[in-house]
Parts: sequence; C-alpha cells; structure tokens
Amino acid sequence: MPGTCVIGLQWGDEAKGKLVDILTEQHDIVVRYQGGANAGHTVVSGGETWKLSLIPSGILRDGVTCVVTGGVVLDPTAALREIDMLEGRGVRVGSKLLLSDRTHLVFPWHVAEDRLLDGSVSGGEAIGTTGRGIGPCYRDKVGRALAIRLGDLYRPDFPDRLRHVVALKQRLLGGVGDGSAATLPEFDADSILADTRRMAARLEPYVADTTAFLLDAVEAGRRLLFEGAQGTLLDVDHGTYPYVTSSNSSGLGVGTGSGVPGRWIDRSIGVVKAYSTRVGGGPLPTEQDNAVGIHLRERGNEYGTVTQRPRRCGWFDAVAARYAARLSGVDQLAVMLLDVLGGLDELRICIAYEIDGRTVTNFPSHVDDLRRAQPVYETLPGWPEDLAGVRTMAGLPAAARRYIERIGGLLGRPVSIVSVGPDRAQTIPCDHHEGGQRPWPRHPAPARA
Ligand code: GDP
Ligand code: IMO
Ligand code: MG
Repeated sequence: MPGTCVIGLQWGDEAKGKLVDILTEQHDIVVRYQGGANAGHTVVSGGETWKLSLIPSGILRDGVTCVVTGGVVLDPTAALREIDMLEGRGVRVGSKLLLSDRTHLVFPWHVAEDRLLDGSVSGGEAIGTTGRGIGPCYRDKVGRALAIRLGDLYRPDFPDRLRHVVALKQRLLGGVGDGSAATLPEFDADSILADTRRMAARLEPYVADTTAFLLDAVEAGRRLLFEGAQGTLLDVDHGTYPYVTSSNSSGLGVGTGSGVPGRWIDRSIGVVKAYSTRVGGGPLPTEQDNAVGIHLRERGNEYGTVTQRPRRCGWFDAVAARYAARLSGVDQLAVMLLDVLGGLDELRICIAYEIDGRTVTNFPSHVDDLRRAQPVYETLPGWPEDLAGVRTMAGLPAAARRYIERIGGLLGRPVSIVSVGPDRAQTIPCDHHEGGQRPWPRHPAPARA
C-alpha cells in the first residue's frame, strides 16, 4: 500500500497545501492528523485562491476521501465555516469528508485561555500563538478531566458533561488574569449547549471511526496521502520549545495522530521554502531585519494566512532544515517559492552556527542556545530572471539549479519537486526522480554539513 506524507521542515507555511493539492491526484484518501484551525493552507488554481484550515487540501479534487483524524483538535464553528465556504464556492463536500469521533473539540474557553496565557510564557517573549485555542485544547486532552470529544456530543449524558466542564472552567479561569470581562468572558452553559447541539446536528453526517476506516483502507490497498500542518521545528517535543505548537507536527506525529502505523508510508516528502520564515515568537537565527527581509516578505507575500501577521523572513537555514529532515525521516525534498529569490544579487545559506565561540552543525536542543547562535553562511550567486514561467529544470538559470542542488546536498536528500509560483501549474518535477526510482537510500546516513 503506497502511502505518502508531506511534512514541513521549517516553522510552517512551507506551501504544504499546494503540494498536497498536486499529489492528491495520485491518491485515494487525504488525511489531516494533527493541529487544528491554526493551520492555513493555500491552494491556487486557475486564478482561484482557496484557503483551508481544518479540511485537507485534497477536498478540491474529485474522487478522494478527506479524513480529519483524532490527532486534530477541531473547532466546530471553524469546521462548519469552512464546509460552508467550500459548498458556497461549488465544491461538494458531502460524503467526501470524514471527521473522527475521537477529535477533541475546541470550545470558547480554550480560545479565551489561549489569549489570556500567551503573553506569560518564559516571563519574556510571547509565543505569539494564532489565538485559536490550540494549546489549551491539547492540554485538556492530555489532562482528560475537562476534555470533550466529537463523539461525546451524541451521547445521552452530554448536557451534564458540558455543564460540569463549564462550571469547572469558569472557576479555574476566574483565578487567571485580572478577572475582568475583558480578559475572561462569562460562559453560559445553556447557550453553549444550544449552540453545540446545533453544530453537532450539522456535523453528524461526517462523523466516523476514522481509525477503523483508515486501517481497512490500508488493507484494501488504497493510497493514502498524509497532510502535515505546521512544521517540524514547531513540534511540541522536538521543536524550538516553548516556541512551538502543541502537537507533534514533525513526521513523528503521523502514526499517533492518524492511527495508521508509519510503516505503511513509503514516501516522505520534506517541504522547504527556498528561504526561512517564522510567524510569532521564538528564535529565527537567519532572520534578516533589513532590505533582504523586505524583499522576501514582499515578493513572497509573507503574511500569515490565519492571522495576517507579517512573517519574519531570513536566509535558508540548512542546520535547522537538516535536523528537521532527519527527525521527520523524509526521503526527498520539495523546494518551494524558489521564484521569490529572483533579483537578489547573492544568496546565503546557513551551514553552521557559532555558539559561544564553538562551531556547531547540530541543531541546539535548548532555545537559549539557539538564541545565541550566529549563522555561518555560504554565499551563492543569485539570478535576475523571473522564474514564474519556467516548467523544466533545464529552463532554470544555472544559478537556481546550483542553489537547489546545494540544498539537497546539505540536507542529504534529493530534491524531487521545485515550485516557482503559487499556481498548481507553476511546479517543476525533477527529472532524476521520475520513473519510481528512489535515487537515495531509504534511511541515509546523516551527512555532515
Ligand atoms: P502551508 O501552510 O505550508 O500550506 O503554506 P501557506 O499556504 O500558509 O503559505 C505558502 C504561500 O506561498 C501561499 O500563499 C501559497 O499560495 C504561496 N506559494 C506556494 N508555492 C509558491 C511558490 O512557489 N512561489 C510563490 N511565490 N508563492 C508560492
Ligand atoms: P501551517 O499549517 C506557521 C505558530 C504560531 C505560534 C506557534 C504556536 O499553515 O504551516 P498555536 O496557535 O499553534 O498555539 O501557535 O505556532 N503556528 C504556525 N506558524 N504556520 C502554521 O501552520 C502555524 N500554526 C501555528 O504562529 O508561533
Ligand atoms: Mg500556512
């Protein structure tokens, strides 16, 4: 059973949505397995732009089933808004969508908690969350006592359960913030119950045991495509903690989040931008708070899909991305937004960090060390050409080909796809990877940068 996963290798927004949309054609089922409405995945096709958050990007294609598994935290309001948006624009969601009865639900108190607590991390820089209640919902999932799953909505004791949770939440949250209505809204159990029941009725046709569905699909030989959200460096266990999201957004999260063992995946594509971006707080060693950063932000339209915040921009960081590629176990790379680099005289790639006078090529495990990391750069020639119309590797300027090859070399994986614009059509398959031949061993030895 050929399974593919698409994993971001940076701090999110690597253009995973575009890639999933393209790869959907080769698959029967597209699976979202972690994260929630913090994700913003953009697909552009025939002049139309689609922004998806909870629903897999595969929904835009016919003949596929899109599955949201139990590893996702689901805001029912956001899910219904997205379904309505799609149906309103002519995409039939209908039986194409399945939502796991195991997904944990995001309630208004999660959003309130997220906004209340985000500024208080580490006594300094805020995480700068998307404010979608993601962290508090995952915390309640692990804590168990205050969690509500989608399947719970259809049980007879749901009203009692909700009232119990609302009462406890109100008391617990009363001790946080200044207690004013501005920081803590009043949660009215009756109106939340009525709203939730209305939403539950609308969501019911989509609810399923997706674990059983996917395990059956595996045995039936159907082709699965796993769509990562966020990026490897935002992984709660292995990213730049605490400046991370609250799920396993690296390749390691695919199995736990979906219920499908990772051994069924035989193609793992690591997605990188041709440079680095980050939205929110936390270190970004190669950040360019200068004309280069402005070039990248404006040419790359680097403004958050969910929050519209300007993204922080910098040079490609091969130390961070190589760590991410190894951690996520990817066997090939997709290099996206290459066109954005056009017009820069020279390009830099970070190949090591200097930390307290030592040169390191391993990604630091503590965020304080990463903050002190000074990038060691290699300089490559840029190119003046606009790449938007290029469709073959041979059509790329030699400097662009060299840049891609260098990224592949530093990360120890071949580049199989290059993207030169947001549209589906602006995609270049790399010839050496066609024909199903894997040009690289499944588990390559780590290459020293
Ligand atoms: P995701 O969260 O990983 O799916 O990425 P986002 O959709 O948040 O951000 C990627 C952005 O880059 C979106 O606005 C895409 O439309 C756009 N995009 C994707 N590929 C390319 C590309 O090759 N070139 C340019 N210029 N934009 C791209
Ligand atoms: P996609 O799927 C980029 C960032 C937030 C913040 C941190 C924690 O579009 O790549 P959270 O709301 O998850 O608690 O915020 O993670 N973040 C993202 N950054 N792309 C995303 O998703 C992100 N989802 C969360 O900005 O720094
Ligand atoms: Mg995004």
